[in-house]
Amino acid sequence: MASTVLELDDIQSGVLRPRPTPYAATYVLFRIDERKAGRELMGRLSSVVASAAHPTSPVADTWVSVALTFQGLIALGVPKASLDSFSPQFQQGMAARAKVLGDSGESRPERWEKPLGSSEVHVVITAVAPDTEHLESAMERARKIYQEMRGITAIWRQDCHVRPDEKEAFGFKDGIGHPAIEGTGLPSTNPRERPLRAGEFVLGYPDEMADSPSMPQPEILGRNGSYVAFRKLHQRVAAFRRYLKENTSYPEELLAAKMMGRWSSGAPLALCPMHDDPALGADAGRNNDFLFKQNDDAIGYKTPLGSHIRRMNPRDADIAGVVRIHRMIRRGTSYGPSLPEGVMEDDGMERGLMFAFVGAHLGRQFEFIQSEWMNDSAFFGGTAGEDPIAGASDGTGSFDIPKRPLRVRLQGLPQFVVTRGGEYCFLPSLRALHWLADLTT
Ligand code: HEM
Repeated sequence: MASTVLELDDIQSGVLRPRPTPYAATYVLFRIDERKAGRELMGRLSSVVASAAHPTSPVADTWVSVALTFQGLIALGVPKASLDSFSPQFQQGMAARAKVLGDSGESRPERWEKPLGSSEVHVVITAVAPDTEHLESAMERARKIYQEMRGITAIWRQDCHVRPDEKEAFGFKDGIGHPAIEGTGLPSTNPRERPLRAGEFVLGYPDEMADSPSMPQPEILGRNGSYVAFRKLHQRVAAFRRYLKENTSYPEELLAAKMMGRWSSGAPLALCPMHDDPALGADAGRNNDFLFKQNDDAIGYKTPLGSHIRRMNPRDADIAGVVRIHRMIRRGTSYGPSLPEGVMEDDGMERGLMFAFVGAHLGRQFEFIQSEWMNDSAFFGGTAGEDPIAGASDGTGSFDIPKRPLRVRLQGLPQFVVTRGGEYCFLPSLRALHWLADLTT
């Protein structure tokens, strides 16, 4: 098979390049009130978005990504034949897919933070910088330009950050496991996973299932683009801590590790099942170097089959389905203040994860993982129960921890993560941004 040559100079940097650590980030949503202004915005943005071919950004230390919702493409006046060529999930939007995604009860779209999930969200701009000072000065410059423009309205902003220790709100090191992608030259975080074909993540290239998968038309619009799903996920940190404390079947840290599949340091249970190993957790060369079956854990005595990382990427485990067609590029950034250590009562503050999926297939990647792997357990032969960390449990969920001579079953698992909103977006290539700017329809 010929190796893939990716047009890196046309792909937005945010798709393929890993982010710096630590960093500050912001998501800003815009509504396009006038088509002409929307097109002008695309033109201006095309000069500040870095390509994946360049190690530096056109706006100093700040990295900008631009994505559009389906409503945004309509607002820009993209022709109907082209709109119809986008994936049906994208056309419907995330709120309309609530049932598949498990967004019910407190997570249902009617309760989402406004304007998330509404037809007003058109453009999603993300800016990433090494710290808040750099980010703010870039945002100040952007604000001056934006204020001169009529016909574009900023309607929402969410600031977020990745801490120096890379820990998310529950206290686990995040951002460890990423798939290797053919043609990017980026090293794999798991040397035991063969690089995936580029078309799994970037449109217009062969993927794991086909040599010429379909992509949005015309080619200049679709090629080198990706789909993005971002979700604002509120984390109930105090409830999580209380659950660990009140459940006496395991010491707190071990129970948390069993639910995640990794210790808080990031060290995987697959490689150190009995105790945390912070040196291993911090070692990017070793902390993702494992499989499950090959590491003698088909049953899940070390890493439970239902733990978060084993569900999200079952690696070589025996499951119904093919793991390689359900992988994703993942960017997670925390928002809100940390809950001080030891606090067990909710302080009423909003905190959690701005989760972002990047891939070429919203249906067989993001939605499949969310519905079949996160919120169901049939794929690994489980009887009941959602992901114990991020699943849509209604309080009746259970979580099995294989153990000799008898497994431990945790009943009545509460819901620790609530969806506050989200959007499906299309992340166009740099050439596509120019094409959108030059539309005349
Ligand atoms: C607030 C919710 C969530 C939290 C706190 C969370 C936290 C984590 C942590 C700490 C890791 C282990 C570190 C790493 O491998 O980077 C991880 C891995 C992962 N998570 Fe999540 N996550 C959340 C939601 C999600 C969602 C919604 C998805 C997808 C639909 C997802 C997909 C993944 C994947 C694919 C991995 C890597 C698995 C591997 O390759 O081993 N996570 N997550």
